[in-house]
Amino acid sequence: MTPLRTARAAAGARILGLGSTQPENVVTNDDLAQRMDTNDQWIRERVGIQSRRIAEEGTLLVDMAVEAGARAVKDSGLAPTEIDTVIVATCTMPNGIPNAAAQTAERIGIPAPGAFDLNAACAGFCYGMGTGADLVRAGSARNVLVIGAEKLSDWIDWTDRSTAIIFADGAGAAVLGPATDAASVGVGPLAWGSAGDLAQTIRVNADTNALFQEGQAVFRWATTKIAPVALKAIELAGVTPADIDVFVPHQANLRIVEAVAKRLRAAGARDDMVVADDIVHSGNTSSASIPLALDHMRAAGRVRSGDTVLLVGFGAGLSYAGQVVICP
Ligand SMILES: CC(C)(COP(=O)(O)OP(=O)(O)OC[C@H]1O[C@@H](n2cnc3c(N)ncnc32)[C@H](O)[C@@H]1OP(=O)(O)O)[C@@H](O)C(=O)NCCC(=O)NCCS
Repeated sequence: MTPLRTARAAAGARILGLGSTQPENVVTNDDLAQRMDTNDQWIRERVGIQSRRIAEEGTLLVDMAVEAGARAVKDSGLAPTEIDTVIVATCTMPNGIPNAAAQTAERIGIPAPGAFDLNAACAGFCYGMGTGADLVRAGSARNVLVIGAEKLSDWIDWTDRSTAIIFADGAGAAVLGPATDAASVGVGPLAWGSAGDLAQTIRVNADTNALFQEGQAVFRWATTKIAPVALKAIELAGVTPADIDVFVPHQANLRIVEAVAKRLRAAGARDDMVVADDIVHSGNTSSASIPLALDHMRAAGRVRSGDTVLLVGFGAGLSYAGQVVICP
């Protein structure tokens, strides 16, 4: 029997470029207060959101994926023809068929890539980065475009104040390529998992076709279970909490972000570790929130090339995942 060949492996993967996009339509807390029983002060204090972006009627999820993906490819310095794999992390595609990835790739001008969608809800971008990095490391792919894209506004009951004040629309993306040697690896191993016993705490209700969540149960879970995942990602990457320059958790609720950051500092993270607060003006955009925050923070000079960045996503599933990356 002829032994089968395996693909030629790389030392690992690194991030080559980032990009993002948001709808132009800004919805403030006061705007929402005109439609439901809520108010600006409550939302700021309990969630941390001041405004969010909601897609215009005609904007499709794939439109946002194309915009963010094309920007990341441009930022990477690669031509679209050099990308061979496209992963779109999303949980809000209106119909599962056709998937978002193949049509997104087609519109960016990426010819015949491996293309698939991945649903790990708000953990989706980290799942996608882990999958993409492993494809690169194993030699199954060379340059992978990972996109987190969500149009949550399609799945919101705009009279339900427990969800309407939180969720929003947008897309963010990263391009991964091979690291030439061990010293240039820029994506650490994935710390991941799920808690299917809590699956019903965030769901789309069949009768309303709208998102429903048990807010307090999710809050308790996130504030207790996510810091250990972040610390595991740090350990797997062979660094220490003190090495983390920037912490970019999923932007679910500013109080959750702050609670997890506090636990990381108690475990040795530095006081001057920069912590993402993109939720303030972006809302919770599920799988798009981490790459959106990263791209915005880079544009604002809050994360710089070479910084060691800790990502951790968590949400419906319940699913969670994190990894340490080096900012391009
Ligand atoms: C949803 C969430 C913001 C609600 O906050 P909470 O502090 O748990 O709020 P509660 O439901 O306990 O309600 C507290 C009070 O605020 C009121 N309230 C609830 N929602 C409100 C709103 N949108 N506006 C104004 N008041 C509101 C309640 O009626 C209640 O009033 P009462 O004390 O007089 O009875 C919070 O639970 C949360 O963020 N959970 C995590 C959800 C999450 O991150 N999901 C995404 C995961 S990816």
